[in-house]
Amino acid sequence: MALRQILHHPDPRLRQKALAVTRFDAALASLVDDMFETMYDAPGIGLAATQIDVQQRVIVVDTSSDKQSPLCFINPSILELRGVEEMEEGCLSVPGIFDYVERAQWVRIAAVERDGTPFEFEADGLLAVCIQHEMDHLDGKLFVDYLSQLKQTRIRKKLEKEQRLAG
Ligand code: NI
Repeated sequence: MALRQILHHPDPRLRQKALAVTRFDAALASLVDDMFETMYDAPGIGLAATQIDVQQRVIVVDTSSDKQSPLCFINPSILELRGVEEMEEGCLSVPGIFDYVERAQWVRIAAVERDGTPFEFEADGLLAVCIQHEMDHLDGKLFVDYLSQLKQTRIRKKLEKEQRLAG
């Protein structure tokens, strides 16, 4: 396993639309292992392949408090959304920024296991929000896109400045 570097907003590579996974091979298994390692190390509760510059539709999530509930969704798609929930979100690609975003309170999704087996999954609350956030990454979307233009400009300038200072 290996830690992968996480891209930071406004890196244009975060805006790419990821491609569906078609090969369920050892390379995919090692990508998933690396994503879990990178997410837990960060530490974060979710990571999309887009964030480590791999343009494939893979997300990993673990919202449990003991970090013992790893979930991996390959080629995820939304089947059903219910309710509305507003939660404060953050993102490993938008460090230091937290703000409220409105999303569905409950989701049912279809996805594929790393061995290619299709399955369906239901989630609510934090896990549902996290899944929606990570799925957005696969379409090149960030949580800050839901904020006002004024906030988006401020966040972008702040992160650009920090990246300049970091060299
Ligand atoms: Ni994120």
